[in-house]
Amino acid sequence: MKALVLAGGLGSRLRPFSHSMPKQLIPIANKPVLVHVLEDLRAMRVTEVGLVVGDRGQEISAALGDGSALGVRITYIQQDEPRGLAHCIGIARDFLGDEDFVMYLGDNMLTEGVQDIAEEFRTRRPTAQIVVHKVPDPRAFGVAEVDGNGRVVRLVEKPQEPRSDLAVIGVYFFTPAIHEAVAAIGPSARGELEITDAIQWLVSRGDDVQARIYSGFWKDTGRVEDVLDCNRELLDHLAPSVLGEVDGASELDGPVVIEEGARVVRSRIVGPVIIGAGTVIKDSYVGPHTAIGRDCVLSAAGLGYSIMLDGAAVERVGGLHGSVIGRDATVTSGALASRIRLVVGDHSSVEVAA
Ligand code: G1P
Repeated sequence: MKALVLAGGLGSRLRPFSHSMPKQLIPIANKPVLVHVLEDLRAMRVTEVGLVVGDRGQEISAALGDGSALGVRITYIQQDEPRGLAHCIGIARDFLGDEDFVMYLGDNMLTEGVQDIAEEFRTRRPTAQIVVHKVPDPRAFGVAEVDGNGRVVRLVEKPQEPRSDLAVIGVYFFTPAIHEAVAAIGPSARGELEITDAIQWLVSRGDDVQARIYSGFWKDTGRVEDVLDCNRELLDHLAPSVLGEVDGASELDGPVVIEEGARVVRSRIVGPVIIGAGTVIKDSYVGPHTAIGRDCVLSAAGLGYSIMLDGAAVERVGGLHGSVIGRDATVTSGALASRIRLVVGDHSSVEVAA
């Protein structure tokens, strides 16, 4: 079985980060989403990966190379502009040949993996097998109606009135029959070749399309809140390890990872927290569910439930929560937070958080 990973999307909901970095490279627990995806594929024993990229392809290939560091072999496939998930299958036709494949959306995180579902597809080999997840409001997703035997009877993309609570999530298993379906469908109202329409085409033809429920943690990391939520989930399973330096005046509480070359001075870290190589934390507080990248600086600062990307710095600013601080960004205040100086105009209203 091969894999087709889709990383051509623009990430417009993740702005401003997606202006400077493709959304699939946003680090979650200090590892890009795409690396989590490739690790999941390797766990499914899939190593031959076609990676569909758009105009940010250069940055993605700079980060992942040929995939050998992750135990996979990547073939890059260029898409001129986002034209739909089914379009990606069309342009990957040569790479895929006549093999079965798993298609994985490069911004989806399924933290518990789908090895069982992959094994079942290999053994039973229905025409296609989709993965669904129960959600309270599935209107933003493809929605599947499934019979008592797990067979899909209808699939609708983003219905106004969903007929089930089963959202289609970003992992699909296909036999080569999908190529016929992709060739048969036309663009949707949003002008894209929808994978949902291609799968529905197989269902209408009477093919065996199966759905399996994944009940672990799942997120489409499209928005900042989702990225932070995913980061929290992964950090909740963090295995502590301290390879960097922690001075006697510092305190570590709960699971904390301090990578090599990182330094913690006169600070308190309450895990789960991960601190990347080369980062310096001094006179600061780092609260739970925070991932700090490599070569960052935190000085007289306080930060919790947040992500700092590589090279970022926060100095003399406390109380940061739910924040994502971009690569090489700096956040400072002119004075210690306890001595804030404000020049406030007439009739203004200023609220300073404690
Ligand atoms: C796509 C699929 C949709 C699926 C979703 C999962 O939607 O079209 O069926 O539920 O991914 O993330 P899109 O993100 O392209 O709107």
